[in-house]
Amino acid sequence: MLLVTGGAGFIGSNFVLDWLAATGEAVVNLDKLTYAGNPGNLASLADDPRHIFVHGDIGDAARVTALLREYRPRAIVNLAAESHVDRSIHGPAAFIETNIVGTFTLLDTVRAWWSALPAGEQQAFRFLHVSTDEVYGSLAPEAAGFAETTPYAPNSPYSASKAASDHLVRAYHHTYGLPTLTTNCSNNYGPLQFPEKLIPLMIVNTLAGKPLPVYGDGLNVRDWLYVGDHCEAIRTVLAGGVPGATYNIGGNAEMTNIDVVRAVCAAVGQCRPGPDYAAQITYVKDRPGHDRRYAIDSTKIRDELGWSPRETFATGIERTVRWYVDHPQWLADVTSGEYRQWVARHYAT
Ligand code: NAD
Ligand code: TYD
Repeated sequence: MLLVTGGAGFIGSNFVLDWLAATGEAVVNLDKLTYAGNPGNLASLADDPRHIFVHGDIGDAARVTALLREYRPRAIVNLAAESHVDRSIHGPAAFIETNIVGTFTLLDTVRAWWSALPAGEQQAFRFLHVSTDEVYGSLAPEAAGFAETTPYAPNSPYSASKAASDHLVRAYHHTYGLPTLTTNCSNNYGPLQFPEKLIPLMIVNTLAGKPLPVYGDGLNVRDWLYVGDHCEAIRTVLAGGVPGATYNIGGNAEMTNIDVVRAVCAAVGQCRPGPDYAAQITYVKDRPGHDRRYAIDSTKIRDELGWSPRETFATGIERTVRWYVDHPQWLADVTSGEYRQWVARHYAT
């Protein structure tokens, strides 16, 4: 079986659902259930014995050791993290705690357990660490996309904490021989994403008739990866990746933020014909230290492992908007309490 951490979050819950559908192999899901963790994302698995949910922290060595001994996973997929750049600017401490100290504790606990396994199990074991393209820093407009060899230059507390965790993963392979894999992907979007990130926030605000807050001039560029494609890429790397290696995962969909927001408005218009939703676009104060451009060169994963994204941005955004329109109760549940406080605090000018 597989141990997934952070499996109640956006990518994690999509991954658990995708994994069970694609492989049928059981999953132990360790999640701290921070504001970003939502057990409701996995409600469809309530009666499925292949999914074992454990409420806990990757930084709790005793808990992780007990789980490893009880379930003997053949692999770990580490998705647990603090993941939102804006929150890392308001309060970096939680990012250091989970992304750096938590990943270190998880790695060290796994290493101690793994090193006592029989040789065959040791060799077959994998620790797959999910990271971000933001560790590479900001690209000039015409520069080539990030390759696995691009030097790290993180600019936000979030990306610095992820960079630190990547370095620890690398060191645990180099020093102790732990069979690690690292993936660095671009911005994900799709169902079940908490509406603090650009695309779900814009969908929610469009539907609610609220302003669509675009930072700065709206010309920052991101590459957009549909979450289902990302899940397939993780499965691909887990199955065929070379221990110690890193794989960059992108969606072949570089866009300016303003074009993304306009595409969201158009897709909502298709589902809910109505007013000119783009009239809700409002330019707001820029994010401090805002990286101008990210882009991914996915040549390695395509050539070595045969993965490339199935969705275009046009098909992915249509599916995503449709999912949000069709799940008003999920939205109502996540846009209460803590969420309202975050929006009031962050978007107050
Ligand atoms: P998310 O914020 O939606 O979910 C994170 C999950 O981790 C939540 O369920 C949370 O409860 C859990 N968690 C947090 N701290 C924990 C701890 N100490 N112990 C156990 N569980 C803990 O994040 P996401 O968007 O699903 O991202 C998953 C991973 O992918 C992260 O490592 C993130 O850095 C990386 N990533 C995300 C994106 C993206 O666009 N969302 C892009 C690149 C990389
Ligand atoms: P985000 O989804 O936070 O991802 P990241 O910062 O990790 O790339 O933001 C994506 C882009 O959208 C980023 O350039 C910041 C911008 N943005 C806005 O313009 N307005 C918003 O309200 C948010 C949340 C993001």
